[in-house]
Amino acid sequence: MQDFNHKTIVITGGAGFIGSNLAFYFQEFFPKARVIIFDKFRNNQTFASGNPTSLGHFKNLLGFNGEVIVGDINSQEDRKNLEKIDFDIIFHHAAISDTTVMDQELVMQTNHLAFLELLQMCLQKKAVMVYASSAGTYGNTPAPNSVGIGEQPENVYGFSKLMMDMSVRKILQENPKLPIVGLRFFNVYGEREFYKGKTASMILQLGLQALEHQKVRLFEFGEQKRDFVYIKDVIQANVVAACAKKGGIYNVGSGVARSYNDIVECLKKHLGNFEVEYIPNPYSFFQTHTQAHIQDFTFDLGYEPKYSLEDGIESYIPEIKKIFEEKR
Ligand SMILES: NC(=O)c1ccc[n+]([C@@H]2O[C@H](COP(=O)([O-])OP(=O)(O)OC[C@H]3O[C@@H](n4cnc5c(N)ncnc54)[C@H](O)[C@@H]3O)[C@@H](O)[C@H]2O)c1
Repeated sequence: MQDFNHKTIVITGGAGFIGSNLAFYFQEFFPKARVIIFDKFRNNQTFASGNPTSLGHFKNLLGFNGEVIVGDINSQEDRKNLEKIDFDIIFHHAAISDTTVMDQELVMQTNHLAFLELLQMCLQKKAVMVYASSAGTYGNTPAPNSVGIGEQPENVYGFSKLMMDMSVRKILQENPKLPIVGLRFFNVYGEREFYKGKTASMILQLGLQALEHQKVRLFEFGEQKRDFVYIKDVIQANVVAACAKKGGIYNVGSGVARSYNDIVECLKKHLGNFEVEYIPNPYSFFQTHTQAHIQDFTFDLGYEPKYSLEDGIESYIPEIKKIFEEKR
């Protein structure tokens, strides 16, 4: 493992779920690193769904003692504030992370175009780029999902992430040694996701429903499978990616597909019994089975997920209970 002390680390999207956890990781384990967050935070604007147009929240950063720059990755003016910094590594997490957004122009601009600008900046500085791609790049093609196979996104969000990966592939074909690493996160859950609201993981949503109503709702019949990956494993993935000596695109999951009924069983162990109501699924594009093929990431960079669904939920339960208590 690399010593990140005395490195200058930029985290775009650092006021969001994954970015803020990463910021606290460096603060705890590499206190001499200079950590700079670049994030737009949220404002009063919402999409047609009612969800905020950006999900960053200052409360994710309570206790953070690094630097914070408020800025929009789409703004050339704001990006200049980043350009001034002589950073060694950039973790690029800023994005429209809400997969239900239909404004194709805005999603492509924010997720793909702004990334290309940051990538150019990064190449000029000879800095390491670790960026967030997504399992959404696979759409509904058969699992297990392997990089380079079945990349047929079902929504513009997945498409924007695939375009990021395609652009990187082209650059890496010319120069494979460039340290540009794309991470295709599967379904991430854990601490500091609360402010994602309706877009937070089903683990948090079902936990809160169970605590509040002693009843949860699942799409018929709860047997759809996903690769749920705990935030601590996702942080490990980011950290090993930043140590890469060459570029690549990797899946970040637990490597195992589990059903929504499995989540319910795990939650019941900690929260007691509750009712499950099965309701019809209105979404034709709903992914029915995702599972990350992670062997390449393990082989190339030593990524090894440590949390099963059972372990991740057990570790997360105190936080879910705390959120429930505070909301009441
Ligand atoms: N959480 C998951 O399960 C998951 C799965 C696959 C991929 N990802 C990707 O991982 C990254 C982080 O996801 P997350 O769950 O932490 O999401 P998040 O929404 O909590 O974090 C994204 C952050 O980016 C910021 N942001 C949005 N637009 C911006 C802009 N124009 N300029 C500057 N900042 C902006 C938001 O304020 C927010 O703080 C995203 O790129 C997301 O697409 C997440």
